[in-house]
Amino acid sequence: MANPTFWRSLFRTKPVEAYQKEAQQTTLRRALGRWSLVSMGIGAIIGGGIFTLTGVAAKLYAGPALAISFVIAGFACLLAAMAYAEFASIVPVEGSAYAYSYATVGEIVAWFIGWNLVLEYMMGATTVAVAWSGYFDKLLHLLGAEIPYWLMNDPFTAAEKAKSLGLPAPAFAINLPGFIISWVVTAILLRGIKETASTNNLIVFIKVGAVLFVILAGLFFIKPENWKPFIPAPEVDLEGNVHYGWAGIFTAATIVFFAYIGFDAVSTQAGEAINPRRDVPFAIVASLLITTLLYIGVSIVLTGMVPYKLLDPRAPVASAFAGAGVKWATYIITFAAVAGLISVMLVMLLGQTRIFLAMAKDGLLPNGIFGYVHPKYKTPFRSTLLVGTIISLVASFVPIVNVSELTSLGTLLAFTLVSLSVFILRIKRPDLERPYKVPLWPLVSLGGVLVNIFLMSQARKENLRAFAIWGIVGVIVYLLYSRHHSKLHQ
Ligand code: ALA
Repeated sequence: MANPTFWRSLFRTKPVEAYQKEAQQTTLRRALGRWSLVSMGIGAIIGGGIFTLTGVAAKLYAGPALAISFVIAGFACLLAAMAYAEFASIVPVEGSAYAYSYATVGEIVAWFIGWNLVLEYMMGATTVAVAWSGYFDKLLHLLGAEIPYWLMNDPFTAAEKAKSLGLPAPAFAINLPGFIISWVVTAILLRGIKETASTNNLIVFIKVGAVLFVILAGLFFIKPENWKPFIPAPEVDLEGNVHYGWAGIFTAATIVFFAYIGFDAVSTQAGEAINPRRDVPFAIVASLLITTLLYIGVSIVLTGMVPYKLLDPRAPVASAFAGAGVKWATYIITFAAVAGLISVMLVMLLGQTRIFLAMAKDGLLPNGIFGYVHPKYKTPFRSTLLVGTIISLVASFVPIVNVSELTSLGTLLAFTLVSLSVFILRIKRPDLERPYKVPLWPLVSLGGVLVNIFLMSQARKENLRAFAIWGIVGVIVYLLYSRHHSKLHQ
């Protein structure tokens, strides 16, 4: 195993020119214009993060300085976004971070990234399906309807609920809303990119409207004394964790990072963009900047409406309005979350199947399943069906708690490698035409690598362990299957 040919094979790269040629022969339907792509980015980004994580981040870590945490996390994302944009302008293919590293650092790293993007997209979509079920439950509750708990939870969570109520565990339990929404999203995706884009546009309209509503309506309930002190003095708890002060602001930044995840999914739509080399880079950066502004607005308003220590960690935004006596705003916010999470799932699932498609084209995954594009709908049909089935079953029957951090870890690793790949490609291939260039080279690229590694190091130990195990399984699959089936091998 240890001969030089073996090691060389791990780091073989796919020429940029091969990608550029593939990009001209896409089997997918090119239907996405510039603003549809921006809308896809916003569709993937705004979700549960802004409506829930802001509570814990401000109450326990940042205080009124939550807006600074959003600026820091947004800045880290911007460094990565510019790297994605440069790559998308050179090799506008659906493989995104996977393809970019295949063209630069080599096959095993590319595989590893593809494998970790499953954490971002597939696991991300599954957590969002479960979160959607929670918001849907809240909405029904607001409307006065109740569904039995064994139809709203996986069997394990349902058994725990039964125990807490002093009841015997139910004979059967399923997270039915999670199951149904997974199939609704899958069906839209199977149907075609145009249908996906118009559903996404509608949802984006609703949720951006709701976020603007929160900012504008919230302005009337701000009490400036709630912002004092803007950066509360640091406090150390019994376990040695620092709350508030600058350390707290950074911890809060790692928490709210999740709220930004999704802008990179735009790069997986390069195969469906009408003018990918120009529009994909624009959409990646534009969707990120637009949401950063919205998030800063929400943070300032939220911490101005409620003293930070009194924020509700589970539904901070809705509770802030309820507390201000505007109970009806809760309906708007809950409805927006229910609608908004659908587009997050939509774009994540879309991203997942496009990454798989790229990997199948290169031989690293079975082409019959992952590379098959439906002749009429021009969508990766079997792969979408398979991913939809997995997501619906996991969301229905598996208790997934705390996996959002794994989603963040997978994403951060991709961000790190894309920033690194931009740096490497500038050295290896200075001759390539780059319609978009990361400014201030190499500062921004290397800064992107360092910032993302720093954010990864902030994750909890048990999640880092799970992440490492996932990575090891990935390398084993590569050595047993993908290395031999790689087109570059043949
Ligand atoms: N950014 C997405 C959300 O906040 C994942 O739900």
